[in-house]
Amino acid sequence: MRLALIGFGNVGRALARLLVEKRKEYPFTITGIHTLRHGTAVDPAGLPAGPAMGPRAASVDEFLDAARAEAAVELTTLNPTDGQPAIAHIRAAFARGMHVVTANKGPIAHAFAELRDEAARAGLGFRFESAVMDGAPVFNLWRHTMPGVRVLGFTGALNSTSKVVIETMERGGSFEDGLAAARAMGITEADGAFDVEGWDSAAKTAALANVLLDACTTPQQVSTRGITRLTPARVAEIHRQGKTVRLISRARRTSSGVTLRVRAEVLDRADILASPSGTSNILLFHTDLMGTFGTVSIRPGVEQTAYGVFSDMVEIWRIWRQTP
Ligand SMILES: NC(=O)c1ccc[n+]([C@@H]2O[C@H](COP(=O)([O-])OP(=O)(O)OC[C@H]3O[C@@H](n4cnc5c(N)ncnc54)[C@H](OP(=O)(O)O)[C@@H]3O)[C@@H](O)[C@H]2O)c1
Repeated sequence: MRLALIGFGNVGRALARLLVEKRKEYPFTITGIHTLRHGTAVDPAGLPAGPAMGPRAASVDEFLDAARAEAAVELTTLNPTDGQPAIAHIRAAFARGMHVVTANKGPIAHAFAELRDEAARAGLGFRFESAVMDGAPVFNLWRHTMPGVRVLGFTGALNSTSKVVIETMERGGSFEDGLAAARAMGITEADGAFDVEGWDSAAKTAALANVLLDACTTPQQVSTRGITRLTPARVAEIHRQGKTVRLISRARRTSSGVTLRVRAEVLDRADILASPSGTSNILLFHTDLMGTFGTVSIRPGVEQTAYGVFSDMVEIWRIWRQTP
C-alpha cells in the first residue's frame, strides 16, 4: 500500500523508521512526503529512506496527485483553534479516493462527525488512534471491543507538559524551569502555551467527546482553565499536605447533553489520577455495563505515537487488500 505523508517532523520520521523495521510483514511504501518549510519529495515507485527533499509542491492537491498513494497520513502541527489546514488536507485526500490516518487531534476535535461521514460515504477508512494517548488503545478499544457498553463519561490526566511543570515546582524549580524541561524532552506542542493554558487538554477532551459521546463539540466549548496561575509557593504548600495538582479532563453525559471541563485539580497523592508522572497518561472511562475502567500509558515517546499511526494503517491495509 502506497502512502503519502503530509508532515514529516518527529512523528513522521519515527513512522518512517517503524515502516522500515516492519517492511517484511507489512508492505507499506512511502511515495510522497510534503512539509511546510523543508519542501516535498515524490516518487510513485517508492522513496528511499532519508529522501532528498525538492521544492515544495504548490499545494497539497498537487502533492497528492503526484504521490499516487492509496492512503494519506496527516502529521502536521496541531492548530487547536480550528484544526486547519489539517482538515483541508484530509478532505483533499478523500476527494482523491485516499484512505486517511492522522495523529493530529485538531480535525477530530473540530470536525470529527463531518469527516467520519464523508469517509463513510466515499467508502474510505479514516483512523486517528494517536490523536489521544499515542498508540495506547483508546478509540480502537471502543471500535473493536466492549460491544453493548455505553460510555457515560471519562476522566483523564492527559497533558504531559503540565505534569512536568508541576513536578519541577514540587522540587523547588520555577514555572519557567518546568516549561524548559518539558521543551527539552520534546513533549510540548510547537507553542508551549497551548499546553499550560489547557488548550492541548481541551482539544483532547473535545476529540474524545466527539468520538465517544457524539458531542459535536469544539475545544472552545470545553470549559478550560490551565495551570498558569499556579505558583511554586502554592505547589509547595499542596505538596506539604501530601497532595499534588494535575490538569484533569472531565466529561459527563447529562440529560441535556454533555458537560466538558479541564481544570487544575488538587488531588491526594494516592489518587489513581495523580499516579502517572512526567509523560505518563491515564484515561478512565465511566460506563453503564463495565463500570469504570481505563487505559494507562507509561512514559510514551514518539515511537508510541508512530505505532498508533502504524496500527491504524495496518487495519486500513487489511480491508484494502481484500477490496477487489
Ligand atoms: N510528538 C508527539 O509525541 C505527538 C503525540 C501525539 C500526537 N502528535 C501529533 O502529531 C502531529 C505531528 O507531530 P510532530 O511532533 O511530528 O510535529 P512536528 O515535529 O512539529 O512536525 C510537523 C510537520 O508538519 C509539517 N507541516 C506543518 N504545517 C504544514 C502544512 N501546512 N503543510 C505541510 N506540512 C506542514 C512540518 O513541516 P516542516 O518540517 O517544514 O516544518 C513538519 O514536517 C501533530 O498534530 C501532533 O499534535 C504528536
